[in-house]
Amino acid sequence: MAKIVIANFKMHKTENETKDYLISFLSKYEDYKAKLILAVPFTSLPICRFLLKGRDIALCAQNICEDDDKGYTGEISGKMIADVGANYVLVGHSERRTKFKEDNKTVNKKIKNGLKNGLSIILCVGESLADKNSMKTLATLKSQIEEALKGLYENELENIIIAYEPVWAVGSGKTPTQKDIEMALKSIRKVIEEDFSSKAGKEIKIVYGGSITSKNASKFANIVGLDGVIVGGASLDNNIFMQIINAMA
Ligand code: PGA
Repeated sequence: MAKIVIANFKMHKTENETKDYLISFLSKYEDYKAKLILAVPFTSLPICRFLLKGRDIALCAQNICEDDDKGYTGEISGKMIADVGANYVLVGHSERRTKFKEDNKTVNKKIKNGLKNGLSIILCVGESLADKNSMKTLATLKSQIEEALKGLYENELENIIIAYEPVWAVGSGKTPTQKDIEMALKSIRKVIEEDFSSKAGKEIKIVYGGSITSKNASKFANIVGLDGVIVGGASLDNNIFMQIINAMA
């Protein structure tokens, strides 16, 4: 099966910059190479929808409000995200957990609202450096996943991708060893197995994110049980991003 490759633009690129990027990218990209998902700023979603018409490339928003149709100035609802053509939404990214104080309870509400609006979810989880140094990686992953998925039905997991993103690896130039990623994958699957079923544990899609570059991408292509990657900084240059896709294919 084609690997999942997610670009996370974060707070980068105006609408016009996204347009130039995509036109150049699409002139070189062959759809079968990956299951591609582009997480762009809200303001770039409409131009992406227009340019991606007829292409097998999914669009992702980077945040969602936990409610629809409320007097929440400045928020964007699931209903609005779905309406503008996104198929996915990122929830629980470490930058939102740390900078915007989003806790697991909020993450759980956002997931439920995304699913209610027909969106698939990319749920980001990962340990901090302090967790890692005190051997709490697996315990952190377990609590983040259990609290995020509380109250969900097993069949809803089909619409969830788990992104394992160690906080210390995001934007730092550092990546975990293959062994550490394999351990994390195993424990994520075990949590899903215990809370849902062994079938769900086997089938849940898991990607890795954190400091992926064109130089280290091939290291992630052959890790057993890893379904793909999420790329932040290195996705902003379409030539480099293309090299990463090719390394994963
Ligand atoms: P990075 O970001 O590739 O720049 O480390 C990954 C992410 O935040 O999803």
